[in-house]
Amino acid sequence: DRDPLVLFMPSGKRGRFPVGTPVLDAARQLGVYVESVCGGRATCGRCQVSVQEGNFAKHGITSSNNHLSPVGPKEERYDRVRGLAEGRRLSCSVQILGDLVIDVPQDTVINAQVVRKAVDERVFERNPAVRMCYVEVEEPDMEKPLGDLDRLKAALAADWHFENVEVDFHLIPKVQSILRKGEWKVTAAIHKDADGDRPRLIALYPGLKNEAYGIACDIGSTTIAMHLSSLLSGRTIASAGTSNPQIRFGEDLMSRVSYVMMNPDGREAMTIAVREALNTLIDRVCADGEISRSDILDSVFVGNPIMHHLFLGIDPTELGGAPFALAVSEAVQVRSSDIGLPMNEGTRTYILPCIAGHVGADAAAATLSEGPHRQDEMMLMVDIGTNAEIVLGNAARVVAASSPTGPAFEGAEISSGQRAAPGAIERIRIDPVTLEPRFRVIGVEPWSDEPGFAEASAATGVTGICGSGIIEVIGEMFLAGLISEDGVVDGSLAERSPRVLADGRTFSYLVHEGSPRILVTQNDVRAIQLAKAALYAGVKLLMDKQGVEHVDRIGLAGAFGTFIDPKYALILGLVPDCDLAKVKAVGNAAGTGARMCLLNRDYRREIEETVKRIDKIETALEPKFQEHFVAAMALPNKVDGFPNLE
Ligand code: FES
Repeated sequence: DRDPLVLFMPSGKRGRFPVGTPVLDAARQLGVYVESVCGGRATCGRCQVSVQEGNFAKHGITSSNNHLSPVGPKEERYDRVRGLAEGRRLSCSVQILGDLVIDVPQDTVINAQVVRKAVDERVFERNPAVRMCYVEVEEPDMEKPLGDLDRLKAALAADWHFENVEVDFHLIPKVQSILRKGEWKVTAAIHKDADGDRPRLIALYPGLKNEAYGIACDIGSTTIAMHLSSLLSGRTIASAGTSNPQIRFGEDLMSRVSYVMMNPDGREAMTIAVREALNTLIDRVCADGEISRSDILDSVFVGNPIMHHLFLGIDPTELGGAPFALAVSEAVQVRSSDIGLPMNEGTRTYILPCIAGHVGADAAAATLSEGPHRQDEMMLMVDIGTNAEIVLGNAARVVAASSPTGPAFEGAEISSGQRAAPGAIERIRIDPVTLEPRFRVIGVEPWSDEPGFAEASAATGVTGICGSGIIEVIGEMFLAGLISEDGVVDGSLAERSPRVLADGRTFSYLVHEGSPRILVTQNDVRAIQLAKAALYAGVKLLMDKQGVEHVDRIGLAGAFGTFIDPKYALILGLVPDCDLAKVKAVGNAAGTGARMCLLNRDYRREIEETVKRIDKIETALEPKFQEHFVAAMALPNKVDGFPNLE
């Protein structure tokens, strides 16, 4: 005769509750996040759940819809007016009668139009920093001379347990008219970032306001990506990207820092440029999502340290040289309008912490997304740009560093290198006997019989080789015997193939005869060797620090990581040996981490704590770096084996 046992999925949290307990209350008591805007009045429809029926022997539960109270008048009214999908119940309005397995769906589908546009992606448990709270405020009374705002606060305390609410000043002049317009029924947007924080009223709407949005954004040095999500369903409504307009001040990070050092207005010009681009992106996601800017009530941004500083209007000069001092490393929370991003007047912007002087908030966000600190396996994460940001660790310890790879992986310093854009060779195969290449070009329909690959002679519109293409072409040249372990292009093959061409005292490989001519020169091979040796040496240093000889998993982040074929990353020795099945592109992991912090404030605490625990390694100060670097110049490596390639 024990109380019914209730298990909530997907969190797996469980507990016993007396018969008659509303399901929403049970969820609250267990700390399971179930959305609610109307405060249990059965009008917002946000609290929907469903029952998994069956015998869950493992949990000792036989769950059935009959263990929920039957549909009552409030739920019936909601179903009649708004419609409830098959099997869905309003958790605020149903009571526990027996053992239950309750599904908390990640999408309480309210607005069919929004759902059609939703982007397919990972879903997270939510607990946003901004909550929408409907209240019915007592009307003024001559006998009780309490102000309108004070009665609103009293209602928020009574219905939502938000005590001692602070009020954003911009709302104070508007409170009276909003309360009257809503006939004393209003929805308050309450921002509360952490448990200990004072709740803050940031927006107020007449009547029931059953939607709220937020944006998550990754400011990369080349591209900026933004997502607009519903804070109430967790769905991404729209996404947009653009290239970073700061490129006109300098291609890579260091040239942007020098621009600031050389030009008195340089910092300001770059801050203005990036904020303008962000404002344009905000307009775009709002237009796509068919919402207004003022509907955005929260925002999260990440970026590498230099992007982070320029975005906040901080001079990045200190980051240009040792000791690479950040102006601020911990997470920053500001009013969005204070940093030139007007949305709703009350909207806040949260910026993740930076790990170190050149391991930024983007690496922190990627760490949060991929979770090396949550697992037993030793995971390596690399984000390759002009600087490679490297994180290695597991639940016991996480270490991080950056390595000066230079821009070769992005196609700069490579004779035929270019950005990943139409006309760029992105995939290539070289026949080891004939030394003839076949390749695939971005934005060009394949011509060959073999799907996706063209004979070099048939290709038109080829303009260069992008970063992932360069890794492949050098990997393939190595496999075909065109270059030695030391990276020397073998000139003796000129007798065998017209594609091996003398170029002064060295030799080049002709990938494509056209205009322009696409060659891989000895210098190109060297540039890639230097870049990959820097990356590998940084990784090895972190492996030394961890005391490990191999890694269990590798995540390749960022655009480069997305397009590179993991096999070639190993063939060239960019990363250490690993089971190929466990080397994965993790896409825009930084953007995913930003989205997690937008939808769940607990992730903000998680990454803040994790960043504090991460050991930061300064590669420039480590004597072994040079030794590892020299060994890593060879293909794939002078000292380390790659058993997984054999
Ligand atoms: Fe609004 Fe249940 S909480 S319908």
